[in-house]
Amino acid sequence: MNNGLAQSLYQQIGAANLREIVQTFYPLVKADPLLTELFPENLSETMNKQEAFLTGFLGGPPLYHQTYGHPMLRGRHMRFKITIDHARAWFECFSEAVNSVDLESGVKTELLEAVGRVAAALVNSE
Ligand code: HEM
Repeated sequence: MNNGLAQSLYQQIGAANLREIVQTFYPLVKADPLLTELFPENLSETMNKQEAFLTGFLGGPPLYHQTYGHPMLRGRHMRFKITIDHARAWFECFSEAVNSVDLESGVKTELLEAVGRVAAALVNSE
């Protein structure tokens, strides 16, 4: 498989696992007491956007950009009050979703570090 060129994290995870992570993640978010009220009842659009975003963010095709334009994630999250506790809760749900799929532990660590940095950067409220 590896021709000597570094594989993107997206390739190492695989599209099917990424989808599985996103599909597992949002029900956990909806079950979280702190996060639930921020999210819509119907999560299908949210899931599509997140899957598209993560695909490009992890080095795959830029699906989010193609459909929705520049992600400007901090700007798009400004209408929500996100505290460090929200970011921690989000990250806990994401970690649980990542741990539910079968991936090499180094790949999981890299993925969690990458999204963890984004989560920390989205905190916009004391
Ligand atoms: C820090 C904690 C976070 C909270 C509380 C949060 C909350 C939210 C909420 C409430 C939405 C709107 C859902 C909807 O109406 O469909 C949203 C959208 C989104 N979030 Fe987050 N988020 C967080 C972190 C992240 C992180 C770390 C990422 C990326 C790695 C991310 C990526 C996205 C994307 C791509 C969207 C869709 C944007 C759009 O096109 O509207 N979020 N988030």
